[in-house]
Amino acid sequence: MIRHLISAADLSRDDALLILDTAGELAQMADRPIRKLPTLRGRTVVNLFYEDSTRTRISFEAAAKRLSADVINFSAKGSSVAKGESLKDTALTLEAMGADAVVIRHQASGAPHRLTGWVRGSVVNAGDGTHEHPTQALLDAFTMRRRLGRLDGLRVAIVGDVLHSRVARSNVLLLHTLGADVTLVAPPTLLPVAVSAWPCEVSYDLSTVLPKTDVVMMLRVQAERMNAAYFPTVREYSRRYGLDAARMALLPDHAIVMHPGPMNRGVEIAAEVADSGRSTIVEQVANGVSVRMAVLYLLLGGADPAGAELGGAELGGAELGGAELGGADPGTAEVLAGRAGGGRASPGQLRVGWLSGEASEAAR
Ligand code: NCD
Repeated sequence: MIRHLISAADLSRDDALLILDTAGELAQMADRPIRKLPTLRGRTVVNLFYEDSTRTRISFEAAAKRLSADVINFSAKGSSVAKGESLKDTALTLEAMGADAVVIRHQASGAPHRLTGWVRGSVVNAGDGTHEHPTQALLDAFTMRRRLGRLDGLRVAIVGDVLHSRVARSNVLLLHTLGADVTLVAPPTLLPVAVSAWPCEVSYDLSTVLPKTDVVMMLRVQAERMNAAYFPTVREYSRRYGLDAARMALLPDHAIVMHPGPMNRGVEIAAEVADSGRSTIVEQVANGVSVRMAVLYLLLGGADPAGAELGGAELGGAELGGAELGGADPGTAEVLAGRAGGGRASPGQLRVGWLSGEASEAAR
């Protein structure tokens, strides 16, 4: 497994599938009474957010906390960044605090890549400028696979403001790796110049693409990044590239509608579509936590997935609660790795061993 996650292109097919499979196992935990694993206990995850975010920041925070990591939330507003501190100086401060992972969102494309040269921990790109947002692509792929059962050969249309969308780029790269066929649908003004080099098709006509589509992913019109007029009026954009109920009816019966959020209801997506049974928008948010848990776990812990099992009762709290999480702790990692004496380690704990920080340290 790689050390940083900067681009969806960093992931081989095997890496991507390992993340999705691990997320699938972790997702089972969401239904259990105790939703916490001791896996990253003693590790520090810093959320470094230079740009506004609701779901991504909360999602990474929830993911790190469910793995028992210590979480430090840093937002540029209210920090020394407002006094002009550079990214490098902020990074060195984090380094001094011993961050094991830094999750960064930044308005500048390339900022997460720069950070990898300044910190020892793993860097996870949570969205950089108009470049990439790899964990969003992973959670989207996870959602598609859950709903439709496969990714290979799946026909995915990504519609709208591709030019400003890091979500679109990461999705095209990841879906291509995973064998899906992607078509970008947008007005020519909202497509990047080099799009012909991307591993996907391009269309300007949404209505002809929809009947041949398994997944339609609507993108937000990113007005805050637009420094020119990219289309005549919002109404015209909406009429040609928006998804309303009439257009949704062109989709095959099994097809799903996705959106990374935040949505402009009434612009790229009609409210009745966003709230329909075909929409996976809320599911995407829930899946995001499991996928980010898998990413943090695999980057920080490393894994020996061969023979390891995540499912079953051992994720449930029953074995994980009690003495090994409590006060007189012989060392959670040891207990979990099944090395503690006194017959404490149940078979369940043995299997959770590969999730423990210590056990996986060796696998790095
Ligand atoms: C996206 C983002 O921030 O890149 N949203 C998200 O992460 N959920 C897409 C967007 O802002 O439109």
